[in-house]
Amino acid sequence: MLEGKKILLIISGGIAAYKVLDLIRLVRKNGGDVTCIMTKAAENFITPLSVASLSQSKVYTDLWSLTDETEMGHIRLSRECDLVLVAPASADIIAKMAHGLANDLASTTLLASDKPIMIAPAMNPEMWEKPVTQDNILKLKNYGTLFIGPESGDMACGETGTGRLSEPETIFQSLCTFFSDKPLAKKKIIITAGPTYEPVDPVRFLGNRSSGKQGYAIAETLRDLGAEVTLISGPTHLHPPKNMITISVNTAEEMLEACKKALPADIAVCTAAVSDWRAKNPAAQKIKKTASKSQNTLILEENPDILKTISQLPRKKRPALVIGFAAETENLHKNAIKKFESKKCDWILANLVGKDISGKERAFGCDRSHIYFITQDKDTEDWSLLSKKETAQKLAKKIINYYNESK
Ligand code: C5P
Repeated sequence: MLEGKKILLIISGGIAAYKVLDLIRLVRKNGGDVTCIMTKAAENFITPLSVASLSQSKVYTDLWSLTDETEMGHIRLSRECDLVLVAPASADIIAKMAHGLANDLASTTLLASDKPIMIAPAMNPEMWEKPVTQDNILKLKNYGTLFIGPESGDMACGETGTGRLSEPETIFQSLCTFFSDKPLAKKKIIITAGPTYEPVDPVRFLGNRSSGKQGYAIAETLRDLGAEVTLISGPTHLHPPKNMITISVNTAEEMLEACKKALPADIAVCTAAVSDWRAKNPAAQKIKKTASKSQNTLILEENPDILKTISQLPRKKRPALVIGFAAETENLHKNAIKKFESKKCDWILANLVGKDISGKERAFGCDRSHIYFITQDKDTEDWSLLSKKETAQKLAKKIINYYNESK
């Protein structure tokens, strides 16, 4: 899968550094070539000897090495690869990259590089969430740096939150996607994501706790495989992804209109948690606490079902593949199967939402979910607990197989 591909792996300091040993093994097993640079901090977590043994290549650590620098080591390293991967990328190296600092071999090579750069951040959740880190991330995204993760969950420091290094397998899959021959080139894909907000009055709305993360992860994964993606998103806190059309909407009706405008398409993936109901007569002014019963009674009317509408378009207008999601709090499989009858989509990715028996939130707003992949003939695959990126990668594989089989 990575035959002949040369990856320059920059390992910065962090407890997650041990995970890249597995990544190096995976890349080499699949035909790739890895040359490593380690920062001084990285050497506190793993040794250059173990990295050299696994990569079967010299490990570079020092900008001031006389032998390496007589050959302009940092320039050569940055030019002789197909991709620079920084994993784990600490808050420090991200800040250096965002500000163009070059005071050690890793940062100097990154600044000198004329190759695509991919980074897999790993840090404490507080460090990740600090506005200064988020500003640095945004800056790098705008410069075209590609990101893998970070994931959410329990951290080595004992805290819980976002900042975990993506698993070696996820990073490896992202490398494969990057080097793939774009199997979804020229495929037009519409993706709905996030919640919808249905106004009750000018300040209040009916909505739900969908973060949009699953839809955005699918949009980015399919884009990286060459697809022309239109992402139609309800209100979220996520940045619009690069290199796709992103249309922001608020209500279900706006989302449906945007989908209709974006058609025709080869595939539609409806991940949005669309509000089933809207207020029949939203108030023109803020409803007061002192409102009369007739003023404060909410009369609901049903919203259009976007997945159903797209699935039931005439054959010539219908995308070849219409994929829905089912978020259920109980009877997951039975309820998901029922949706095939009512909506007539092709595949459903079903997962449980709400709190599990330990009181932990499942799926909505989280970074991991337990997905069952169900097809119209009721075949079910248990994908177990995966990060939203991993779910997106698995779905992408299914889509590629669908096209390979229908050739
Ligand atoms: O009917 P239910 O909301 O359980 O179905 C979930 C699936 O239907 C999701 O794929 C969701 O995006 C889609 N849906 C929709 N429009 C609605 C309600 C749900 O597209 N009004």
